[in-house]
Amino acid sequence: MKVIIRPGELRFPLDPVVSFGKQNPLVIEAGFGDGHFLAHLAKSHPKWNLLGVEVSLGSIWRAYRRMLREEISNVRLYRGDARFIVRDVVAENSLSRIYVKFPDPWPRKKHRSRRLLCAPFFNLLSTRLEDGGVLSFTTDHAEYFDFALEEGGSTGCFEITPGEPPAAAMETKYARKWLEMEKEIFHAEFKKISNAPSYPALIQIIDMHHAILDGNLSSIGSFKKQIHAFKDGHIIVLEAFRELSGDSLIFKVRVEETDLVQEILIQAWQKTDGVFVSLQPFGDPLSTRGVREAVHAVTNWLATQGLVVKEKWI
Ligand SMILES: C[S@@+](CC[C@H](N)C(=O)[O-])C[C@H]1O[C@@H](n2cnc3c(N)ncnc32)[C@H](O)[C@@H]1O
Repeated sequence: MKVIIRPGELRFPLDPVVSFGKQNPLVIEAGFGDGHFLAHLAKSHPKWNLLGVEVSLGSIWRAYRRMLREEISNVRLYRGDARFIVRDVVAENSLSRIYVKFPDPWPRKKHRSRRLLCAPFFNLLSTRLEDGGVLSFTTDHAEYFDFALEEGGSTGCFEITPGEPPAAAMETKYARKWLEMEKEIFHAEFKKISNAPSYPALIQIIDMHHAILDGNLSSIGSFKKQIHAFKDGHIIVLEAFRELSGDSLIFKVRVEETDLVQEILIQAWQKTDGVFVSLQPFGDPLSTRGVREAVHAVTNWLATQGLVVKEKWI
């Protein structure tokens, strides 16, 4: 059973039939931890397409095993930032519900901008939730709770109902931990009532990125880290390696775009009719404008080393 969605398999916007095999309401849990609540949701709502998003690889692995063990077929897991999934993968007005349970509270004032539930995220969410769609939020952190109510309220896009958490909302590892310690738990539902101005998604580029140069790679003997800024982010060409066969260079590149960071490999290899530069499939990267910019950055660096650009991408 296909549970984990890899970045390179994502299509913008998400096609429920391709990803889940069925056209059912789309529901997200952002930061699912050990996946206990996600599994509970999946069993209580077999007609939901549930997408769990987590930044922690360990959590993905634990939840993956849980879904297999419990024979759950309506959950897909994605490792990455929930902001990226909501912005770039979820189509406008297509999300039924999103659950955010005990998100990292970032209690220090200087770290507050790292909180998931802030006004920009609420604005984004209002464009992706369907009319009447709901964010369900539960936390043990009183100050974050007030902060989220204020930030969500400031957008004017939500009807906010604070109240007792439903029993199901307590089916998370953190909820059980705080209950045992008799901590107070806070809960609110944010129902979407209007849309903020549109939030454009990243542009996905399906064509292959490549360049061809005249010259000889064997003449290149050194490399220094390269940083290149473009409209939506940064490209950092971190390192260059020579293949043992000696006729190819491999560049490790960090691509930073809004809410999405990828580390990719770009290869330049010597052929009889020139040096061919292209993205490697290693790690199954998501093909974006940033990835194209990365091929561009490597090509430009090779040009500074005496190679001559003959052809740049399609
Ligand atoms: C305090 S834990 C709560 C886990 C779970 N919801 C529970 O109640 O047991 C917060 C989780 O959110 C994840 N996380 C933090 N920021 C995230 C983001 N931007 N996108 C997705 N997951 C995130 C962390 O890796 C962590 O597992």
